[in-house]
Amino acid sequence: MIFPLPFSLLFFFFFFLCFPSFSLASNVTYDHRSLIIDGQRKLLISASIHYPRSVPAMWPGLIATAKEGGIDVIETYVFWNGHELSPGNYYFGGRYDLVKFVKIVQQAGLYLILRIGPFVAAEWNFGGVPVWLHYVPGTVFRTDNEPFKVHMKNFTTFIVNLMRQEKFFASQGGPIILAQVENEYGDIERVYGDGGKPYAMWAAKMAVSQDIGVPWIMCQQYDAPDPVINTCNSFYCDQFTPNSVNKPKIWTENWPGWFKTFGARNPHRPPEDVAFSVARFFQKGGSLQNYYMYHGGTNFGRTAGGPFITTSYDYDAPIDEYGLARLPKWSHLKELHKAIKLCEHALLHGEPTLLSLGPLQEAHKYADSKGACAAFIANMDEENDKVVVFQNISYNLPAWSVSILPDCKNVAYNTAKVGSQTSSIEMIPEKLHSSMMSADRGSKNLQWDVYVEKAGVWQGADFVMDSLVDHINTTKDSTDYLWYTISLEVDQTEKFLSEGRHPTLMVESKGHALLAFVNQELQASASGNGSDSKFKFESPIPLKAGKNEIALLSMTVGLQNAGPFYESVGAGLTSVKIVGLNNGTLDLSSKTWTYKIGLEGEHLNIYKMDGLNNVKWISTSDPPKNQPLTWYKAVVDPPSGDDPVGLDMIHMGKGQAWLNGEAIGRYWPRTSSIHDECPPTCNYRGKFTPNKCSTGCGEPTQRWYHVPRSWFRSSGNILVIFEEKGGDPTKISFSRRLVTSICGLVSEDYPTSDFETWDKNTKYNDETKPILHLICPKNTLISSVKFASFGTPSGTCGSYVKGSCDHPNSISVVEKICLNKNECAIALSGENFSKDICPGLTKKLAVEVACS
Ligand code: GAL
Repeated sequence: MIFPLPFSLLFFFFFFLCFPSFSLASNVTYDHRSLIIDGQRKLLISASIHYPRSVPAMWPGLIATAKEGGIDVIETYVFWNGHELSPGNYYFGGRYDLVKFVKIVQQAGLYLILRIGPFVAAEWNFGGVPVWLHYVPGTVFRTDNEPFKVHMKNFTTFIVNLMRQEKFFASQGGPIILAQVENEYGDIERVYGDGGKPYAMWAAKMAVSQDIGVPWIMCQQYDAPDPVINTCNSFYCDQFTPNSVNKPKIWTENWPGWFKTFGARNPHRPPEDVAFSVARFFQKGGSLQNYYMYHGGTNFGRTAGGPFITTSYDYDAPIDEYGLARLPKWSHLKELHKAIKLCEHALLHGEPTLLSLGPLQEAHKYADSKGACAAFIANMDEENDKVVVFQNISYNLPAWSVSILPDCKNVAYNTAKVGSQTSSIEMIPEKLHSSMMSADRGSKNLQWDVYVEKAGVWQGADFVMDSLVDHINTTKDSTDYLWYTISLEVDQTEKFLSEGRHPTLMVESKGHALLAFVNQELQASASGNGSDSKFKFESPIPLKAGKNEIALLSMTVGLQNAGPFYESVGAGLTSVKIVGLNNGTLDLSSKTWTYKIGLEGEHLNIYKMDGLNNVKWISTSDPPKNQPLTWYKAVVDPPSGDDPVGLDMIHMGKGQAWLNGEAIGRYWPRTSSIHDECPPTCNYRGKFTPNKCSTGCGEPTQRWYHVPRSWFRSSGNILVIFEEKGGDPTKISFSRRLVTSICGLVSEDYPTSDFETWDKNTKYNDETKPILHLICPKNTLISSVKFASFGTPSGTCGSYVKGSCDHPNSISVVEKICLNKNECAIALSGENFSKDICPGLTKKLAVEVACS
């Protein structure tokens, strides 16, 4: 007998068959322990990936790599000044296609945290707030100020409505589980005096009134009112407690590296310390942790904040700027995530017991009513490894490390034992070619078209003023460039003329950089730096009798992105004097200055595809070198293969670059001071600060500039460079970013890292040995074993050396297991390596292989 299905059930089947991607609405709430999604407490690992810091063609790959790394949630800011180009004029195309980005996250089955801000800091130009808002009369940012609040509310509402329209909130079946309003305002609220607290409370209320059906968060906002959750941002957040016993402990920004500024060194945070901070957070009751950044990406065009933030926003993140997994950071964290997830039930449902195991050693044991038990044991000693006893078993804990015991007995993971794969990545140079020459690759110089701008006013002045004006108030950030020009009449009687001396030009500027020309000749360049954008300089100048023209090109290098009243920080010249005249010093500061905003080439759009022919270029295979104010243009072929591409600008001075009209960004191979001390080796033990483990002392902060593959056509690509002070364009080249070899080093005393054995059906077995896993990039196979030694090898990937103990069959064992495979796993077992070599020693296996 057939029973008729109730109509509602029929409808249900119909709906699922016709709309397979339809997902049911989720109910997101929270208690003191965690977010609760559809009645389930959740332990979540999140990753910041900012959509405009890569290109849409990269988004699916980045999100897939995050998912593979054990990520549950993607976190992004919303970049107001990329979307609201002028009041009410919105843009959501290209890299700013937020809807597309969220859809990709949703399709990958991940959650999303939307940090609307709309102030974001983020080393992004002007902290993400549109520059035009600063010029709406009466506006003061981020305080109890009507025009600011009106625009902030309008934008927040616009974004909320857009997300709602797409059904992106979890309450509608979408991926968004949390939204953020403001950003770290609590740290500076008091500086805003009477306007501070009311503004913060208004922001919270305004957000909650949007009624999005999922909770709101405010980071570093100690007084965030209910129901808004206050969250923590720092290198360590294990000590953090939310401002109410009813709110869960959430970490919105764990910085796994740091950003760079032009002229500074290259910061690195060791993977052992990142893992330590994450493990400590979950050990001490944390429930959601986000890596800021998991993929930092690129500050394309003029989006870098600052001043002086580099175009690269690589951040030493688990996925590098170019989209490749950074090993071993990515893989070490992937294993950490697996280990933490094995503990999820016990952590979220068990009551923690804290056990002191020594002065700087402690265990947290979480046991739930169903018999699940998980423990984290930590050694906070910055110097000494320790043996501790926990539940009658002794454990060896390296200094500054946490061991994770998903069954309260066996160690699945230790934060200081990096047994996961690592790799060597290199930038391999390719010559630039123009298509015309591809038959003759490499043998001829590229044909460059050249256009040299005149120093000073072009096509008539913008205005004249008897004073020095503020740079930013004048350009309103429509360009980096502002010309300050003045005419100077030098009398025949000036003594310096007959004495063969030069008078001195003395300039003071609020920032950021400057070129000084006298009678069309470049005399000097100067700039501030990441810690102080102000600068002064003096330079002898060759004045002649009669009329002289002084043309000073003031340049911004990214606008301020954070700090109290940051929007009022100015730039540009404050004093110009000439010393050494008959009458002593001539102060030009309040004389008549003639101003011109921007460059002629910018005005004529000669870097855009439809403006290329707006000037008369000179074609040459021998372009001028060290020539200031020069535009260079060439037709280039795409580099071979499909690896990521960087533009090598080491032989250029400073400027901007475009490919096919897409803005690559500012380049400036500015060298960091040799006096900056870079440690020869990095000690992961102890608290991290951005200067602790840097590299690149005495080297250019940024040499290569990411050019996304999707910007290239198969031929006829137009590369345009604007060089400010002078460089050698014949040495510009593309480099491909290649994984040249992959490596692994695992010791017998490492945890098994075979997470399958933790599966409920296969109980962990004391005999299980550590395993060395290797995996080549997609579509490549292990083609040779460059190094393998089971014994006491030492060194790092690319430079391993054998020790006094070396198993003679090491290479053949590894070859047998790994050759011609995309991935392989070698257990440090007696079966593979006979146990009787070097008895009594703890042995390691180090392997380096090539993938092709
Ligand atoms: C935080 C801020 C982020 C970013 C970070 C440093 O204070 O919230 O937006 O600027 O610092 O990278």
